[in-house]
Amino acid sequence: MWIIIKEMNVAKEKFFMTAKYTVILAAGQGTRMKSKLAKVLHPVCGRPMVDHVLTQAETLHPDQIVTIVGHGAAEVKQALGQRTEYALQAEQKGSGDAVLQAEALLGQKQGMTLVVSGDTPLLTANTFEQLFEYHKEKGAKATVLTATAPDPTGYGRIIRNEIGVVEKIVEQKDASDTEAAIHEINTGVYCFDNQALFQALHQVGNDNAQGEYYLTDVIGILKQAGEIVAAYKMKDFEESMGVNDRKALSVATQVMQRRINETHMTNGVTLQNPATTAIEVGVKIGADTTIEGGVTLKGNTVIGDDCFIGTHSELRDATIGNGVRVTSSTIEESVMRDHSNIGPNSHLRPLSDIGEHVHIGNFCEVKKATIGNYTKVGHLTYVGDATLGEHINVGCGVVFVNYDGLHKHHSNVGDWSFIGSNANVVAPVEIADHAFIAAGSTITNDVAFHDMAIARARQTNKPDFWSRLPHEPED
Ligand code: UD1
Ligand code: CA
Repeated sequence: MWIIIKEMNVAKEKFFMTAKYTVILAAGQGTRMKSKLAKVLHPVCGRPMVDHVLTQAETLHPDQIVTIVGHGAAEVKQALGQRTEYALQAEQKGSGDAVLQAEALLGQKQGMTLVVSGDTPLLTANTFEQLFEYHKEKGAKATVLTATAPDPTGYGRIIRNEIGVVEKIVEQKDASDTEAAIHEINTGVYCFDNQALFQALHQVGNDNAQGEYYLTDVIGILKQAGEIVAAYKMKDFEESMGVNDRKALSVATQVMQRRINETHMTNGVTLQNPATTAIEVGVKIGADTTIEGGVTLKGNTVIGDDCFIGTHSELRDATIGNGVRVTSSTIEESVMRDHSNIGPNSHLRPLSDIGEHVHIGNFCEVKKATIGNYTKVGHLTYVGDATLGEHINVGCGVVFVNYDGLHKHHSNVGDWSFIGSNANVVAPVEIADHAFIAAGSTITNDVAFHDMAIARARQTNKPDFWSRLPHEPED
């Protein structure tokens, strides 16, 4: 019985709750970017701008999200995948025309619709929520999110009447001098009564400076029709910033970088020079880790507690344990386990797995190799396509010769082995536990347990060689 009552309550709640929809505008070319890449796909701190917008929209759990695609549609769809539905705007005739493409998916539905541009990557879900609340409170058919811009150039201006009520939005290019002097701008984010939105969109014309169907005209149209139209002014202009060119892209990146870095510092990470530390949005860092300036952390990099990441290091999709030390090195798609260290000037290429307490020194390159606990690879070494056991000492200048010009081959080295300096290990080769490789050897055959392999020419000394040479008498 109680299950039925519970289900009825859920149904009741759903019935009385206003449905929420989101439309993301991402069809424009972004001419001012002067780019082959669609504007909304330009990354900010590791993710396309439109991905940031979608991520924030998702946290509000709308019933439907529709992204309007056009320019670079296939790429935008590939970037966002199944997280949103799509509507195609075949020809970019303006932001109003763009929203109209969602009519087939949303037009008949009751509820509130958030419309947001794909080029405002700094907006937060918190702001969207405040906009929804304000919209409901005012009982409005349309509420525009506004901000006060120090320099409003390029933005639509909010025109209010004598008593401060919003009348309409005027685009920069259509603005009179008095209108252009207004600093309250349209952030490009709106909350609409869904049905009123689509009805009004059909009345939008293109008789303006750009010959476009402006979404912004919906505000004036609804106002003229006697509907309640509201404007919610946010305090932080920076958050509402629209990215139309590369200069704005760099500003947006700086702002987001500051946010990301501050979050890490709040969580107990020391950033010694945060202004020069680039950490992408997907990166996770444990407490008491210290990161010097000039470090770049990308992709899905995860760093544990108590690590040190020194200046000029670049990590992409790296998994770093606790107490790891990285100095001036590059790590890609690789794992470094607890208390291992690397650098300066070494490179872990994809699919390397570095065990606990491993030491990788300077000028080493490791690719698709596993290195067991406590093994040392100190200097000037290449380890490619190999599995090294534990407690191995790899001397200076060792090369795992993995490529015969056609295929890559794999080598194995057992625990407690010793590989002398300047040895070549020509794959495929098996070196057993506790084996020794003499310095300068070129190893092409397997080496058994406890054996030592020497593969180099014996030394011959030519006695008094000096006397055989012609000499000028010495002064
Ligand atoms: C728009 C607003 C302006 C506001 C500013 C805020 C209009 C007419 N103007 O100007 O009032 O101050 O955003 O950042 O809306 N788009 C399409 N299809 C189109 C045209 C645009 O999908 O045919 C998309 C773009 O991809 C972009 C968004 O709509 O994500 C806004 O277009 P954009 O050209 O950047 O408009 P703004 O000039 O910035
Ligand atoms: Ca814009």
